[in-house]
Order: sequence, then C-alpha cells, then structure tokens
Amino acid sequence: MYKKVRSMEIFLDTAEIESIEKYSYFIDGVTTNPSLMALNKEKEPYKVIRRICEIVQGPVSAEVLSDQHDEMLNEGLALSKIGSNVCVKLPCTLDGLKVCKELSNQGIATNVTLCFSAAQALMAAQCGATYVSPFIGRLEDIGQDGIVLIEEIADIFAMQKIETKILAASIRNINHFTQALQVGADAVTLPTKVLEQCFVHPLTTSGLIKFKEDWRNRAKN
Ligand code: E4P
Repeated sequence: MYKKVRSMEIFLDTAEIESIEKYSYFIDGVTTNPSLMALNKEKEPYKVIRRICEIVQGPVSAEVLSDQHDEMLNEGLALSKIGSNVCVKLPCTLDGLKVCKELSNQGIATNVTLCFSAAQALMAAQCGATYVSPFIGRLEDIGQDGIVLIEEIADIFAMQKIETKILAASIRNINHFTQALQVGADAVTLPTKVLEQCFVHPLTTSGLIKFKEDWRNRAKN
C-alpha cells in the first residue's frame, strides 16, 4: 500500500474548538497557551485540553500556568494524564527546563516555549525537550529576525545530531510559515487566520471563474 512519507508537521495555534474541529482533517496537532486558553468560553482549561485531545490524534501542547518548579512539575504531570497525546508546554527558564528534564526522563512529551535564542534552544535540547518553540513574530516586534534564528538553531541541531524538533511559533503571515520550513523548522504552528490564508490565491479564484465561464460558453464556439 502507498505510504505517504513526510516529516513536516503543521499545528493549529488555538484553543478554539470550532476551528480545531473544522480543520482536524488537515492538521497534525494543536498548540495552546494561557492567552489562547483565556479566549475560550470554557474556564476550566483541563476540559478544553481533554476536548482537543478527543478531536486530534497528534500532539496537543498544553501549557503550565505556574513558573515555579514544584507547581510546574505537578501541573505537567496532571496535564500529561489528560491524554496520551498531550505535550507539556514549559517556559524556557531554569525551573521550566528542570521540569522538562524530569518529565522527559519519565517519557512525557514536552514543548519548551518562549524561546528567543539559539542558546536557549540548546538548553531545551539538553533537557530532552521533544519540541522547542522559537517565536518568530515576537522577535520581529523588537526588530530582530526570527527566521535567521530558526536557521541558526536548525544548523546547530543538524551539526550536533540533536533530535529535539524545531517548532516555529508566533507565526504572523504566510511568509513566516514557508520561510521557517525552508530554513529547517520541523514543525510550524499557525493561527487559524494564517492557515486559512494558505488555501487562497487570487489567481486560483480568477482561474476558476474563467474555467467555469469557458465551459458555460462551449456551445457558442
Ligand atoms: C506558541 O506555541 C504560541 O502559542 C504562539 O505561537 C504565540 O504566538 P503570538 O506571538 O502570536 O502570541
């Protein structure tokens, strides 16, 4: 049987159930964060994560709310019990990385978030992170080049044979999406708006109108 060989992963960056349901056939997983969770009408985050895990089979990144080691560890363990596809999202801080190491040692998938430098990405890899999430858009907000950072991390990871996957985050437009993959990201997480822009091109729209028109007028030729 034909087996599709593919390494790229496309995640949806949202906690909105309607969008996740709508695109579930298309996405490989979901990433959430406390800001995205706050937009959901359901105020119990564990219920939201449980529902997302029912909809998608791939990784669902669920972020801890605390920034203190012991609480983060407890939260991470609790989140990991919601579903076998939960990926515990931890901040790229000393405490967050320590928890990352502890969860990784237990075979729990992790996503180290708020990464803004290659050094931070290397620390995440050193702690066994499954994914590390460099934030492209937020770097650009302060005048730095997020795509260059992805490229830098990809080069070092390839050179050092590091298995942690680079998950390009804070994607604000289609160029971020394509360029991140072009320079070596393993995965991207797209806000719903950017995912929807990827399906659309004005020449596709006008081309379709022309095809229909030509077919309608065939008898006259
Ligand atoms: C990543 O996992 C984050 O949820 C997200 O990409 C942050 O994006 P923003 O900078 O647009 O908030």
